Amino acid sequence: MLDESIQELASRCLARIAAAGSPEALEAVRVDAVGRKGALAEISKGMGKLTPEERKRIGQVLNAAKQQLEAALDARKQEFGDAALRARLDAEWVDLTLPAPGPRRGHLHPITRIQRELEDLFVSLGFTVLDGPEVETEYYNFDALNMPPDHPARDMQDTFWLDGGNLLRTHTSPVQVRGMEHLGPPLRMIAPGRVFRNESVDASHEHTFYQLEGMMIDRDVSVAHLLYFMKTLLTAIFQRDVTVRLRPGYFPFVEPGFELDIRCLICGGPGCPVCKHSGWVELLPCGLVNPNVLRISGIDPEKWGGFAFGLGLTRLVMMRYGIDDIRHLQGGDLRFLEQF
Ligand code: DAH
Repeated sequence: MLDESIQELASRCLARIAAAGSPEALEAVRVDAVGRKGALAEISKGMGKLTPEERKRIGQVLNAAKQQLEAALDARKQEFGDAALRARLDAEWVDLTLPAPGPRRGHLHPITRIQRELEDLFVSLGFTVLDGPEVETEYYNFDALNMPPDHPARDMQDTFWLDGGNLLRTHTSPVQVRGMEHLGPPLRMIAPGRVFRNESVDASHEHTFYQLEGMMIDRDVSVAHLLYFMKTLLTAIFQRDVTVRLRPGYFPFVEPGFELDIRCLICGGPGCPVCKHSGWVELLPCGLVNPNVLRISGIDPEKWGGFAFGLGLTRLVMMRYGIDDIRHLQGGDLRFLEQF
């Protein structure tokens, strides 16, 4: 009778052990079954009333049941341990054959992009790309461009002077002179680069910005050539036909000098805030190279002539992308740069 209920108790406990879903549930079964105050302990407490033979026999049955349950508890516990280990290994598993995630790639600055586009365009038109120093001498930045020391035009460009009489170039025009000296006529060159002005900074003025200087020297170069190249240039930049007009402009190194305007690309003519309601946007100063400049650079103005222009790259980028504050461009803010 008693051994039957012990058997039954053992099978119930075995079923609970098998069904335990967590180490905590398993521990609860252990306490209930074989713990100090568990079901088996409860039964052995009543054994005092039994005859010695019965006590011996029931004692054996109880022991066997206890061993069976403890073995089952251990086995189940082991399974939980294995499962935990497997879960950890699964979580830590790394596929060493996968390609590594590369570093985050950046991209070219919008000014660099426009500069390279224009370099490609001018190279396709037979121009050479030249580089000049950013720290320039007074001679190349001013004198050789027909601006002797007391020339009033020097005041048009606020200059950062350096110790020893050198300066930070205020424009890319000095590279014209270096180009003429090095290569001689005929000559087709452009010179993109950084220039510096001692100006107070605001939404449309920076102390550092980018220009692209261009020059062509050949026989019988006229304003018609100048216009042709400028129209080709602007059509490539804006990817559509642009209407241009020339107004007289004064620069000591060209004669005649012009301001080239384009029909406003925003409003197409009637007037808007971008063109200050005039229908035209001033974009490109240019002109025919002053004979004095040719002579200073060792070229005979009786035999050769040419045109030159100075394109504001920074300004162009702002127009192309609709950027309304020049300070964004060199501000180094990735949230701005990532848009391009
Ligand atoms: N160097 C002038 C400036 O920075 C721009 C310029 C005007 C360049 C006329 C030229 C030119 O080549 O012909 O203000």
